[in-house]
Amino acid sequence: MRRFVMVLLVGVVCVMINSTFGQTAKQPSADAKSLTSNQALMRDKLVQMNHVLEGLTLNKFDQVAESAKVLGMISRATSWHVSDPKPRYKLLSKNFQEVTTDLERHAKERNTDAATLDLVRLNVTCTQCHQFMRENPAGSE
Ligand code: HEC
Repeated sequence: MRRFVMVLLVGVVCVMINSTFGQTAKQPSADAKSLTSNQALMRDKLVQMNHVLEGLTLNKFDQVAESAKVLGMISRATSWHVSDPKPRYKLLSKNFQEVTTDLERHAKERNTDAATLDLVRLNVTCTQCHQFMRENPAGSE
């Protein structure tokens, strides 16, 4: 019986993995056309965040510094795309950019602990801003 449950579980997990990868494999091409420039930039943030994590994991500090710089540039670029940004948006944007500067410096100093904390701070800011945007969609007062 136990064995049967195990086999069943493995089967379910396989189906789940398959459907997840099946979907992600199909989605980008369908989405790519309809992405606004802001969305494309935001998606690149995800890629850069992953580069930071990879750099910290493998002690590749140049990669961390480079991605921190790119993240700062993306954030400045996306800020221009938002017309009439609210004060909280501006604050979160500014925070984000300051942390990318810290992260770049800490990476150059090869300070893994400080850089790891910066990555956490960046993650928190991503979520805070997205939550804020969800609660205050553009155009709402
Ligand atoms: C100061 C605000 C702010 C910060 C900080 C921020 N974002 Fe965003 N993000 C936005 C806004 C606004 C949108 C909606 C963009 C649109 O639909 O035009 C968005 C959308 C996204 C999307 C969805 C894009 C799509 O295809 O619809 C992703 C992915 C994303 N952000 C990633 C990130 C990551 C990763 C970080 C942190 C490293 C981050 N963002 C930080 C404001 C922010």
